[in-house]
Amino acid sequence: MSCCHNYYATTEGNENVFSVDISAISFGHGVLGEAGEHAKTLGMKRVALFTDKNLINLPYVAQVRAALKASRMDVVIFDEVRVEPTDQSFLAATRFATEGKFDGYVSVGGGSVIDTCKAANLYATWPADFLDYVNAPIGAGQPVPGPLRPHIACPTTCGTGSECTGITIFDLLSLRVKTGIASRRLKPSLALIDPGTTYTLPKNVVASSGFDVLSHALESYTARPYTKRTAPGQPALRPMSQGANPWSDIGCEAALKLLGQYLVRAVNDASDFEARDQLMYAATLAGIAFGNSGVHVPHGMAYSVAGLVRDFQPEGYPAHEPMVPHGMSVIVNAPSVFRFTACACPERHIHGAACLGAQTQGATNDDAGEIIAGQLIKMMQATGIPNGVGAVGYGEADVADLTQGAWAQQRLLTNAPRAVSQSDLSQLYRSAMRYW
Ligand SMILES: [Fe+2]
Repeated sequence: MSCCHNYYATTEGNENVFSVDISAISFGHGVLGEAGEHAKTLGMKRVALFTDKNLINLPYVAQVRAALKASRMDVVIFDEVRVEPTDQSFLAATRFATEGKFDGYVSVGGGSVIDTCKAANLYATWPADFLDYVNAPIGAGQPVPGPLRPHIACPTTCGTGSECTGITIFDLLSLRVKTGIASRRLKPSLALIDPGTTYTLPKNVVASSGFDVLSHALESYTARPYTKRTAPGQPALRPMSQGANPWSDIGCEAALKLLGQYLVRAVNDASDFEARDQLMYAATLAGIAFGNSGVHVPHGMAYSVAGLVRDFQPEGYPAHEPMVPHGMSVIVNAPSVFRFTACACPERHIHGAACLGAQTQGATNDDAGEIIAGQLIKMMQATGIPNGVGAVGYGEADVADLTQGAWAQQRLLTNAPRAVSQSDLSQLYRSAMRYW
C-alpha cells in the first residue's frame, strides 16, 4: 500500500488527524420487521413514518408500520415525499412534522424519502429560516444547534447511501440548482437495510442507483487527501467532508470490487438475487466511506445536469415530469472527470479501475485516465446508461449554465484531488457530451 502511505504524507501546518463517524446499521433479509423494537430502544412513542406515493403500495411500508404498531407506537404516515425533493417539498414535510409533534421519525424509501425525513426532523426540531442551514454560498451554512429527534432510515434502493450520511439534497427552485444541508446531526440514528427491497426495482433504477454507488466509492477514493487541508484551529471546525482517508479507503475498495463483480449482473437480470444483495451491500459500504470523506467533481457537475433538465424522461421513473435521476446525472460526467483528475493520483485511478475489473497489468501513470474512463464507459454501455451529458438533453449552448450551477458546489469541488477552475468545468462538460 505504498501509494496510500505516500498519499497521506503529513506536512507542517496541515491536518494530521482524521475522524470516523460510524453509522449504526442492521443489514439482512427481514430486518424491517425489527423496526418496532429499535424504535422503542430509541425512546420513540409517536412516530412520523415518511414514504412516497409509489412505495406506500409496496409491502415494505406495511411491514415497518406493523412492526411499529406491534411495539405500541402511535404512527402517522406522510406519503407526500417528492422524488427529487425541492425546498417547497421540504417545507411541506416540515409543516407536517411540526404540527404532528412527533418524538421520532422512520423513513422507508430511496434517497428522496430519507433526505426529506432528515430535513423535516431538522426544521421541526430546530426551527429556522429555510436557508440558514443550507450549504454556503447558496445558504448561510449555519451549524445545527443540537441533536435531532431519533430517525430510523430504511432504504429501498441500492444507491444514495443517505441512510449512512449527514447530508440532505434538494432542488432550490428559485435558483434552479441542487444544493443541500450537511451536518453530522442529520445522520440517521440507525439504518435498517434489507437487500430484498431491491428485487422489485426496474432495470433503469438499479442502473442509476448502482452507478451512484460506484461514483461515491471512486470519488471518495480519489478525493483530496485529508492531510492536504490546513489544520483546523479546533476539532469542531473539522469538516464532515474531510477528504480521502485510510478508513474510507477500506469501504471504497471493498465496494468497487463488489461493483466490478455484480453491477452489470444486478441491472440486467432482475432474478439474480445474489447480485442485487451484493449491490445493496456495496451501497452500504460506499455510503459509510463517502460519509467520512466526501465526493467531488462528478457529483458537483451532476447538480446542474439534474437541476436544468428540460425534457429527458427515463424509463422506470414517474412519467409525469422530466428528470435526470441522480445516479445517471453523476455517471454521465464521470469518465470526463476521471480523465482530468487522474494526473493528481494516478495509482488510485488505476487501482480503482482494477477493482472494477479492468486489465491494468503493465499500466503506467500516463495511462491512468484512459484506463478508468474506459472501464466506466464499458460498464455504462453494458447497462443502458445514456451516452454522456448530450444524451440527457444538453449541448454546447448549455455549457455556460451547466458550469454556473456546478461552480456553486464549492464544498464538492474543493474536495477534488486537483484544483478545478470555472473554465476547467466548462471543458469537463464539453468532454462529457458524448463518449462513444
Ligand atoms: Fe450520490
